[in-house]
Amino acid sequence: MLMKARASGTDVKTGGIALHNLRKRYAGAVAVDDVSLSISPGEFISLLGPSGSGKTTTLMMIAGFEMPDSGQVLLDDKEITRLPAHRRELGVIFQNYALFPHMTVAENVAYPLRMRRVGKAELELRVRRVLEQVHLDSLASRYPHQMSGGQQQRVAIARALAFDPPVLLLDEPLGALDKKLRHHLRNEIKTLHKQVGKTMIYVTHDQDEALAMSDRVAVMHEGRIRQVSAPQDIYRRPADLFVAGFVGEVNLIPVKFTSGVVQGPAGERLPAAHCPAVDGDATLCVRPEHLRLERAISPNSGGVRGRVTDMMFVGDATILEFRSDSGLQLTSKVLNISADCMPGIGDACVASWAANDATILTQ
Ligand SMILES: Nc1ncnc2c1ncn2[C@@H]1O[C@H](COP(=O)(O)OP(=O)(O)OP(=O)(O)O)[C@@H](O)[C@H]1O
Ligand SMILES: [Mg+2]
Repeated sequence: MLMKARASGTDVKTGGIALHNLRKRYAGAVAVDDVSLSISPGEFISLLGPSGSGKTTTLMMIAGFEMPDSGQVLLDDKEITRLPAHRRELGVIFQNYALFPHMTVAENVAYPLRMRRVGKAELELRVRRVLEQVHLDSLASRYPHQMSGGQQQRVAIARALAFDPPVLLLDEPLGALDKKLRHHLRNEIKTLHKQVGKTMIYVTHDQDEALAMSDRVAVMHEGRIRQVSAPQDIYRRPADLFVAGFVGEVNLIPVKFTSGVVQGPAGERLPAAHCPAVDGDATLCVRPEHLRLERAISPNSGGVRGRVTDMMFVGDATILEFRSDSGLQLTSKVLNISADCMPGIGDACVASWAANDATILTQ
């Protein structure tokens, strides 16, 4: 049985996807612009980007619901660019569930199996198994309108899993749910990913979701992929200013870079370990949790001089606003575990950071 073989991990790994130079234009506007991406079998990858950045269009070209103007889509090294969606055998999960309202949970999940003429005994076994996987076995005879949004989305996931596709494509599947439920379901999807070992391509504009769930994140902007990396690298080593600003909070400091020395707007020396090869103007990026504000000023330490202008208590942390003597506005985030050494509003401080926590970008 195909499903059993995959679950036990004894078969050859399937579900590798390759995109080569995909382009799609709608009525004069470019939706997807030269997207290339290689996704390994069993990988969990997110397409992350703001509204209109081309995430859904990319996913729909993989699913076969949209045809690219140019470029190729490959599944396990076989070209499927022009293959109709129903012949690709990929599982697709949309934001709005798209369940059949007149069918019970079990009938919804069985539907793709009936379409594939799976025999009764096998069909019942598979429906039972996937409903167990998504913890809905006790609700098999309910109708969609008798269920919560989170439960309906689990049915949609079960239906996509039922025919054992090698790849699941998920387009903002948690977008319609409240924050707490999103959090809960994202953990469930992650656990499910570990259980079933299928390739998952997950579209979201929620950076926390993408960072928490993915093996790799592809950040999209204006139809292009700006960076594809592990979540830690996306956050710690953004490739450009767009990625730095879109994923998490960031302080941006205009700097001059000359022969290994980084100078701030007032000519001060700033800590930075990863410097560009060519001298010139650049932007230094440092996350608020890495920015330290210290009252004791050692003459040798590099940093930006200025004053604390505001403080905000946000529960687990305190946010300190800082204005440098040269007019830069910076933010520091300090966890509330050592509040006794925190500076106060109006205090003169030096803002600094560990050299390794700064990223220098030249674009
Ligand atoms: N059927 C269509 N006809 C015309 N333009 C379209 C169509 N579908 C998408 N677009 C345009 O293509 C661009 C990319 O859209 P897409 O739906 O891929 O973005 P997205 O990243 O999924 O955004 P969102 O987060 O809002 O869902 C947008 O500018 C959008 O307006
Ligand atoms: Mg979309």
